[in-house]
Amino acid sequence: MKTIQGLLKLKNQDEKISMVTCYDFTSAKIVNESDIDLVLVGDSAAMVIHGYENTIPASINMMATHVSAVHRGLPNKFLVADMPFLAHRKDRDTVMISVETIMKAGANSVKIEGGKGHIDIIRHIVESGVPVMGHLGLTPQSVNMVGGWKVQGRTDDVATQLIQDAQDLEKAGIFALVLEMVPADLAKKVTEGLDIPTIGIGAGPDTSGQVLVLQDLLGMNPEFNPTFLRKYADGFSVIKDALNEFTSDVKSGNFPNEEESF
Ligand code: KIV
Repeated sequence: MKTIQGLLKLKNQDEKISMVTCYDFTSAKIVNESDIDLVLVGDSAAMVIHGYENTIPASINMMATHVSAVHRGLPNKFLVADMPFLAHRKDRDTVMISVETIMKAGANSVKIEGGKGHIDIIRHIVESGVPVMGHLGLTPQSVNMVGGWKVQGRTDDVATQLIQDAQDLEKAGIFALVLEMVPADLAKKVTEGLDIPTIGIGAGPDTSGQVLVLQDLLGMNPEFNPTFLRKYADGFSVIKDALNEFTSDVKSGNFPNEEESF
């Protein structure tokens, strides 16, 4: 699946869509060989790769560096890349230079958090030939506004606004919408009201697809255990055990052996 048309086809066939984040060339080569439908270079790179406490430090340069590395390892998949904190809230020319940088680094589309206040620029980006993915619910770039990593849309007011934003974004031309940390019944309602696919993270089972951060689903961080996460491997232990085995072989003189020497 390498096109937005292919993605829409999955939704229309009632086939769930799988999306995963990716930030580097080596992982991209593995993801490229997998059954994953769609790949996101998320601004979560700021946290997962660079160790920041939130996504606010992500910049266009940081995103472009990761997009370019992932793109080189991922010829078979459609690549979405986040517009980082405030990148879409500048004057139109500056926004378009940022979009151009991300796309020329190898993305097939950009993802933009939120809706209210930047529907016009989203429409302009789409009309310029760049597919845009929306992102509503918990929008981590607004973490200081919403007061933490909390489920969004539990009150009627916020839920009504979210439904309205989703419809405005669809009218502006987005091709898919991420719903993060929203109650399952609200995610279902939003999904049923749209023609485009929704991709959930902490949004229950009724979205058109699901996304997880690669390192989260691989179990690389034993301290990160949110309700919505299912770990498909114990990556932390696998890597730690391999490192310990290597150290033990080095210390015992078991590595390298004759065949591993020139
Ligand atoms: O940056 C990111 O990883 C994301 C996903 C959680 C959807 O936006």
